[in-house]
Amino acid sequence: MASRTPFLAGNWKMNQEQQLTMDFMHGLSVWLQDHDASSIDIALFPSFLSIPAAIATAHESVIVGAQTVASYDNGAYTGEVSAAMIADAGCGAVLVGHSERREYFGESEQDFVLKVEKALHAGLHVIYCVGETLDQRKAGSQQDVVRKQLDPVLKSIDAEQMKNVSIAYEPVWAIGTGETATPDQAQEMHAFIREWLANAIGEDSVANTRLLYGGSMKPANAKELLDQPDVDGGLIGGASLQVESFTDILSHALS
Ligand code: 13P
Repeated sequence: MASRTPFLAGNWKMNQEQQLTMDFMHGLSVWLQDHDASSIDIALFPSFLSIPAAIATAHESVIVGAQTVASYDNGAYTGEVSAAMIADAGCGAVLVGHSERREYFGESEQDFVLKVEKALHAGLHVIYCVGETLDQRKAGSQQDVVRKQLDPVLKSIDAEQMKNVSIAYEPVWAIGTGETATPDQAQEMHAFIREWLANAIGEDSVANTRLLYGGSMKPANAKELLDQPDVDGGLIGGASLQVESFTDILSHALS
């Protein structure tokens, strides 16, 4: 039986300026002094402009990451931030494929393949996000949708690179809605993803791959989700903005 280190990540989206970022990191450090969190991995994804403040003030065990990355190395791409710049700033991870990037910025699997490649090349850990819409779930096509989101990326990486990738299952209908997938729904999809990864990359190579659940995870529902055998952590939006609710969720993941 694989023993996967729980991975709890906060995606701050377009929230938290520098002062709030530093206050949060201070609060988290205080909490970490009182709790042995060495059994879990913790990451936070602030906005680009708050990343330096986050890195300057984060506890040494906390990974700071970026919410997106350019699909180009460098050059005339106004507004973009490259993987090398993100790594150079001291980040350790990046989110790719978030449904908000798909929905509001028209990004697609073609972009994500390039972004994953650039991020891995720069030594960044990738959390690749997948998930279906409400209509797709109502139509019963959620596994098809997730498979199509996974396949192009899985085809572009090998078993060695997969060690630096986690997958976040974030049903779009649960993001920011207060509605959460039931533990059974989350487990069912995570088991499907794990099986699909094993087919694509090889069972041994994905035995330690973390599958995170995202979508209205909060202190009240975190434990039952994290208790599922194939749920190895969470990608938390709203409930990661306050240090109290984020650390409440962390508490549920401590062994
Ligand atoms: P919420 O936790 O606010 O639903 O957001 C989830 C998410 O999109 C994390 O990436």
